[in-house]
Amino acid sequence: MAKIKNKTAFFCSECGMDQSKWFGVCPACGAAGTATEQKIEIRNTSGKVQGISLEVKPVTFDEISTDEENRLVTGIGELDVVLGGGIVPGSLTLVGGDPGIGKSTLLLQVCKALGDKNIEVLYISGEESLSQIKLRAQRIGTMTDHVMVLAETCIENAREAIRRSNAKVVVIDSIQTMFSETLDATPGSVSQVKEVTNLLMRLAKEFSVSVFIVGHVTKEGTVAGPRMLEHMVDTVLYFEGDRHASYRMLRGVKNRFGSTNEIGVFEMKNEGLVEVPNPSEFMLNGRPEDSSGSVVGCTMEGTRPILIEIQALVSKTNFGFPRRQSAGSDMNRLNLMMTVLEKRVGVQIGDCDAYVNIAGGMKITEPGVDLGVIIAVMSSYSNKVIPGDVVAFGEVGLSGEVRAVSGAPFRVSECKKLGFKKVILPYGNMEACRETCGIELLPVKSIAQAINCLNVLQNKD
Ligand SMILES: Nc1ncnc2c1ncn2[C@@H]1O[C@H](COP(=O)(O)OP(=O)(O)OP(=O)(O)O)[C@@H](O)[C@H]1O
Ligand SMILES: [Mg+2]
Repeated sequence: MAKIKNKTAFFCSECGMDQSKWFGVCPACGAAGTATEQKIEIRNTSGKVQGISLEVKPVTFDEISTDEENRLVTGIGELDVVLGGGIVPGSLTLVGGDPGIGKSTLLLQVCKALGDKNIEVLYISGEESLSQIKLRAQRIGTMTDHVMVLAETCIENAREAIRRSNAKVVVIDSIQTMFSETLDATPGSVSQVKEVTNLLMRLAKEFSVSVFIVGHVTKEGTVAGPRMLEHMVDTVLYFEGDRHASYRMLRGVKNRFGSTNEIGVFEMKNEGLVEVPNPSEFMLNGRPEDSSGSVVGCTMEGTRPILIEIQALVSKTNFGFPRRQSAGSDMNRLNLMMTVLEKRVGVQIGDCDAYVNIAGGMKITEPGVDLGVIIAVMSSYSNKVIPGDVVAFGEVGLSGEVRAVSGAPFRVSECKKLGFKKVILPYGNMEACRETCGIELLPVKSIAQAINCLNVLQNKD
């Protein structure tokens, strides 16, 4: 009989590392002051190993059958793409995101979509009561009888319910509210989250059910933030977006069964999350015409090109020290671009305040927007309007050169699809895009060339 000893251990709230002694700096991830003490339980099997199975036998790859063709397609196209073509049976997926971003809404919609296809699903909520879930579900639509709901926080009870149900897909909302009876620690603590996830993983493989776990993220990655969960699960999806904008982006951060290059775009509406099949159109909505300091750029989100409006406002500073601010793009990059403009093109912009904004609330880290930022800044500085049918993309280097970016042909065809007539692109990308017809390509080698090119276009208009 196993003897049970109660002990405490110190967990790192950042990465989940545990050890018996207190630590000031986590030896695993280097974070300081993250040690939290928690009770753990040690099962002592007195050195005896029980239940050795003689059945343990390795197999060849040929002998293994795959479930690839058994993927469950939810019918929510954007989600299926991010998952790599549907839900893999027996997989464990973590859906993380800021509070109120729409994680529960999305997963309820998944339940509804699967239920409509006569697939049994079980939604286990530890956060809301049954009537609250119903209220929320009414917003989404009518659920069929294939969708079962359970309000439960004890994972052992939940396990029993899953075992008894025929559910193919189970949603756990959220991992931080679940607790295992075998541990004393409070729900949401690192040891509980680890234990519950382990149990869910075994359960997923054992019953071949696909499990979706909702995980809360806090900015500081406090106790049981899903960071350490990422290692344990098969797929990690992050749901992100601007609180003030209605679009939401679902991004695959890790996927054992597909590419992590894909993103899904949704819009939060009255009736729930609605897919946005054409994000570019969505982002360019409401673009001002005949206004200086505004240009359309093109960024890549995974394999998907998205057109965005880059706005800049440049004016002489009233103080000794110029202000630079950017919303949606990197501010250091803006400072760099301003210096390159001054040094390589000779524009006296050093004593100007500059503000750059990516309209629509998207956050862009990709360098392909550099050229767009430079053009927007120049346009605002010289107070000249950029023609509305021009798109610009390209990375700008420190010598003022315009460097090739990835996925140029996709970017060009996206511009063409949305009715743009001219694209200013890096010379290095020209060869790959030559095939695209119906849109004028203006290759440039440096930012000086790009500015000349725009002067010609502006004078023509
Ligand atoms: N009728 C409605 N019309 C438009 N948007 C709504 C409506 N009702 C709720 N919302 C949006 O849905 C969001 C709630 O989504 P949801 O509860 O799915 O988020 P969550 O990520 O699960 O949050 P939590 O972390 O608190 O569980 C709200 O923040 C609100 O923006
Ligand atoms: Mg929720």
